[in-house]
Amino acid sequence: MSHASTGLFISFEGIDGAGKSTHIDMLAKAFDAAGRRVVLTREPGGTPLAEKLRTLVLNDAMDPLSESLLMFAARRDHLRQVIEPALARGEVVLCDRFTDATFAYQGHGRGFDLAVLGQLERWVQAREQGGLRQPDLTLWFDLPAAVAAERLAGARLPDRFESQPQAFFERVSAGYAARAQAEPARFVRIDANQPRERVAAIVRDAFQRRGWLPPA
Ligand code: TMP
Repeated sequence: MSHASTGLFISFEGIDGAGKSTHIDMLAKAFDAAGRRVVLTREPGGTPLAEKLRTLVLNDAMDPLSESLLMFAARRDHLRQVIEPALARGEVVLCDRFTDATFAYQGHGRGFDLAVLGQLERWVQAREQGGLRQPDLTLWFDLPAAVAAERLAGARLPDRFESQPQAFFERVSAGYAARAQAEPARFVRIDANQPRERVAAIVRDAFQRRGWLPPA
């Protein structure tokens, strides 16, 4: 199939409760069935160091600058240890969240300085051959904050982000919308407020129409 020798970097975004996970698993199976090697990973996390940073950032109180620095420190390690090597081998990297989450959560949710985040992004994602490493495609699962809150109610013990009020997630959503508007070619906005099978069909279609998955 086309692109078989080219690495593909896909990120998945949305507020907590938007329901990305089942679709990431479905895509992993679809790429595997199409003969592609798949790396399933997440942020913050994806390496031993980044997973330690994840535990800290999700559980320990800290200010928004520390939070942002830890997100980018984890990302740096993840890029160097996992993402860049996998892309160089021509693999498909399915990453549950990436830098758009930092702009949405730390920038818009916490109100942290977007220009500082932009500087960190340029340092952390600079490529040896020039330019910035960004996902080839970002699927943004857009769900109203009130619906996400209902879905999350009664789920596992909330972390430092999941326990935020609805207004926080409304700001996070606005942050994703701003990133999507700035880079429309990279983003696919998916209306996640519909039955799971319908969302799955839309997700699959986004890959088929780019020739990244074979037609059904
Ligand atoms: P997860 O529950 O989807 O694995 O994500 C962990 C939490 O971390 C989620 O609430 C979003 C948050 N997060 C940020 O605040 N900034 C980031 O840069 C990333 C990657 C995640």
